[in-house]
Amino acid sequence: MGNIILGIETSCDETAASVVVDGKEVLSNIISSQVDIHRKFGGVVPEVASRKHMENINMIIDEALGQAGLGLSEIDGVAVTYGPGLVGALLVGLSTAKALAYALDKPLIAVNHIEGHIYANFIVDPNLRFPLICLVVSGGHTDLVFMPGHGRYEHLGGTRDDAAGEAFDKVARFLKLGYPGGPAIEKLSFDGDPDAVNLPRAYLEKGSYDFSFSGLKTAVLNYHSKQSKNDGRSLNDLAASFQQAVVDVLVDKTVDAAEEHRVETVLLAGGVAANLRLRKSLGDRIMGKGLDFSVPPLALCTDNAAMIACAGGYRYARGDFAPLTLNAYPRLNLGEDRY
Ligand code: KG4
Ligand code: ZN
Repeated sequence: MGNIILGIETSCDETAASVVVDGKEVLSNIISSQVDIHRKFGGVVPEVASRKHMENINMIIDEALGQAGLGLSEIDGVAVTYGPGLVGALLVGLSTAKALAYALDKPLIAVNHIEGHIYANFIVDPNLRFPLICLVVSGGHTDLVFMPGHGRYEHLGGTRDDAAGEAFDKVARFLKLGYPGGPAIEKLSFDGDPDAVNLPRAYLEKGSYDFSFSGLKTAVLNYHSKQSKNDGRSLNDLAASFQQAVVDVLVDKTVDAAEEHRVETVLLAGGVAANLRLRKSLGDRIMGKGLDFSVPPLALCTDNAAMIACAGGYRYARGDFAPLTLNAYPRLNLGEDRY
């Protein structure tokens, strides 16, 4: 492809910048997480997130360039997340990217955050075979996507209520495990029995690729409130059983989608893809069917800018540039280019 892209990501609570060559060679990947600040509030506070992004963004970009050993003039294009996400947070990265693109007279590249999560897989292996199915599981999304080729997305299904990561976060908050909830529940689950508590799995109508986690969430809360004493052991079992219920539905629906669409490859992406049980269960089932399976290393599953620079590199190669009038869209859909 022959491009050097600076990627910028500020859609939620990580201020991130990265330099990636040809969508695969990560020269730097700098992330400043605000999680310690938001933890005090039990979740992300949008105004605080925007202010912290403003304080950090220039420093993070300098660090990304410095670690890559490149000056701004050596960058071919600036890729930035313009949605979905918190609008005030998105605007910090977007304004910075626009100013840089204008000052350097280099193309501005508009990247969808979910597309970025998917493209983290192409950093690991640029030769993944199409057509493919991708399961995107994050704090805001649970989506099954069919991709016939680069940049082409067919949405097969999504959540009707809570996203998978959101379910982890809400259950964790109720069990007083802190924020973010996914890693906390996973940690407890290592010493728990996934079959200990019988919890519901919502498969919805036959053939549906939609998800629903609110019933499961409620079942966990009810079970927990009814227990007279919650010793440490039962919390481990409850965490493991909850995690298993989420994983079972995600894996079964993804395998069904892969079979129906006769794909070569299945990808897993998004923050919840850091979950070891999910990585292993889906990987085993997919590879057991003779298909290729890909999931990014943990650091590229949760929010980062290397995935944005990677997706940006593919857009750059197609000559897909955005105007400097580009706006931020909190509810941007995958495959929808709003410019
Ligand atoms: O992709 P991401 O970093 O941010 C969004 O775009 O939302 O995903 C964050 C979500 C949070 O809900 C967090 O609890 C969840 O990913 N998460 C996990 C794990 N690590 C992060 N969920 C389950 N197991 C994990 N190990
Ligand atoms: Zn994300």
